[in-house]
Amino acid sequence: MFVGAAGTGKTCAALCVLDWAACGRKYWTMAELCTELISVQAGEREYGQVTDSPRWWWERYAERGLVCIDEIGARENVSDFHYETLKRAMDSREGKPVVLISNEPIDRLARIYDDRVASRMAGGTVIEFGGPDQRLTQ
Ligand SMILES: Nc1ncnc2c1ncn2[C@@H]1O[C@H](COP(=O)(O)OP(=O)(O)OP(=O)(O)O)[C@@H](O)[C@H]1O
Ligand SMILES: [Mg+2]
Repeated sequence: MFVGAAGTGKTCAALCVLDWAACGRKYWTMAELCTELISVQAGEREYGQVTDSPRWWWERYAERGLVCIDEIGARENVSDFHYETLKRAMDSREGKPVVLISNEPIDRLARIYDDRVASRMAGGTVIEFGGPDQRLTQ
């Protein structure tokens, strides 16, 4: 779990980790993850020669070597679909690494989502990013 204020280098650090991972890896923002799953559910995405399905999508997700989900908790209004997607995205990585990124501290994520989501986040390695907004120092 990478947490810290805007511009402290969370996304950059996560992409470096993904670059070095010699395994199937994938990066989404939380919004991109939800949008992708909605189009899979609507039967709008191909996988190979056939229409992708949510079951296959989640199987592939669980089998990847490393995944990263960025911009978690960027909005206050969390739909049931968004909540279930995030919780399943964490639970499906049991025994496998996932990098989660948020600008919000975990106690605030507990209010945006709930204690169950926050518990899963706090249960891993939490790295706090500090220092100035690097965008303003360039
Ligand atoms: N260690 C670093 N030293 C200097 N510049 C950095 C460093 N890490 C990131 N940057 C630069 O700082 C800017 C912000 O980095 P990044 O997008 O990773 O921040 P972030 O924490 O993900 O921000 P946000 O919360 O807004 O998504 C980028 O332009 C990036 O190239
Ligand atoms: Mg970022």
